[in-house]
Amino acid sequence: MSAAPGHSPARSPDIPQGEATSLSAVTDPGQWQAPAWLDDRTRLALLAAAQAARVQAHAPYSRFAVGAAVLDEHGQIHPGCNVENAAYPQGVCAEAGAISAMVLAGGRRIRAVLVVGDAPSWVTPCGGCRQKIREFATGDTPVLLANPQGWQATLTLEQLLPHSFGPDHLA
Ligand code: THU
Repeated sequence: MSAAPGHSPARSPDIPQGEATSLSAVTDPGQWQAPAWLDDRTRLALLAAAQAARVQAHAPYSRFAVGAAVLDEHGQIHPGCNVENAAYPQGVCAEAGAISAMVLAGGRRIRAVLVVGDAPSWVTPCGGCRQKIREFATGDTPVLLANPQGWQATLTLEQLLPHSFGPDHLA
């Protein structure tokens, strides 16, 4: 598979061992529309990183642990988990944590996003996180959705946040 601009699959981290890191455990339900450059190895690495992050979630109030992972322009994967707070509005989503980790590491482009949570319906990024992703992504950026049983769907950022406002408006 050819790599996306700036994306070097060879630099992706090794896939941690654990359940749901084999292809058989993440069989697509027929809604897989990811671009060809997002190969199996990379999306499994995203899934593994997000699942490992989800285990670390601090979600004592909602009891809804979420893991996220973003793939940057260097081929590096940055995980995040939700971190809730007794002052409820101060809680932070998993996607926000992953984006912060990416920026701290020097990444400035999001090539793909993965979100994993334990729900039968699609665990989509909240509205605020869609805008946070938008800052570093484009409309065709794939957003992969999964639960512990496997893939739920793959959408584009444009599908999640149409007619969005972004950095280009201020250029
Ligand atoms: N949450 C995320 O971290 N990401 C999402 O995509 C959806 C929701 C968190 C926020 C809160 O800690 C918990 O899930 C319940 O809303």
